[in-house]
Amino acid sequence: MSAHTKPPLTAASTKPVTVAAIRAAKGGTPLVCLTAYTTPVAEALDQASDLLLVGDSLGMVVYGLPSTIPVTLDMMIAHGAAVVRGAKRALVVVDLPFGSYQESPAQAFRNAARILAETGCGAVKLEGGAVMAETIAFLTQRGVPVLAHIGLQPQSVNALGGYSARGKLSAEAETILADARAVTDAGAFAVVVEGVVAPLAARITETIRVPTIGIGASAECDGQILVTDDMMGVTFGHVPKFVRKYADVGATMKAAAEAYAADVRERRFPAEEHLYGAPKPKIAAG
Ligand code: KIV
Repeated sequence: MSAHTKPPLTAASTKPVTVAAIRAAKGGTPLVCLTAYTTPVAEALDQASDLLLVGDSLGMVVYGLPSTIPVTLDMMIAHGAAVVRGAKRALVVVDLPFGSYQESPAQAFRNAARILAETGCGAVKLEGGAVMAETIAFLTQRGVPVLAHIGLQPQSVNALGGYSARGKLSAEAETILADARAVTDAGAFAVVVEGVVAPLAARITETIRVPTIGIGASAECDGQILVTDDMMGVTFGHVPKFVRKYADVGATMKAAAEAYAADVRERRFPAEEHLYGAPKPKIAAG
């Protein structure tokens, strides 16, 4: 079906977006996906987004950690619950962090069940291709909707030795395509395709029957996701080449802090309108 025959999910209604609606968006108007980690940001992004991902990128973005490896299940649950409280419409998906699912399908189910029960989110995401197919099948057959994540997998940074684009060599491209097929056959409702060369992203998108959600991939994908702090210009460190900056919130925050500092130092703040007055004296009757 072409983009002209499927309206964007956001335009359709204010009804909550379901896993089934995301799956059905294959080949239609591209899905709009962003990360969120807190209630107010979820509230701000909700109406424009089809899917809000509580990504383990919060390790770097919120906690200043060097990678996603130290992120814990408890961190994901706390932030997942916060985002669910702020999102009325978008489907909220929470990342299974490193070490919480790779050991066995049973471990993955136990931790995914905690995430679903304790946050109220609609699905979980996990990294890995063919090697995770058995786990994805185990979860999806037991009522846990899974968003897969292939290509560049930040949780494997220690094994892969960096964050460079994948699929440049044809053997690697074939492996990633096989990963896409394996996670789809295992029951994933959509697949994040991260950091792969554009022709491979297009090939994966035309091959698999569920939506691809690209990040550093290609506009041919069935949807796009970005780390919100990167696209809002909150991130002060390195920002990847594939990010388009839609705002400069970091600069706005710096300017606001400087204006506040000047007002405090010059005693211009607080002003009259910010003060609590003393209660008015009661006038006795008669
Ligand atoms: O953790 C994350 O934010 C992610 C997205 C970048 C896809 O996995």
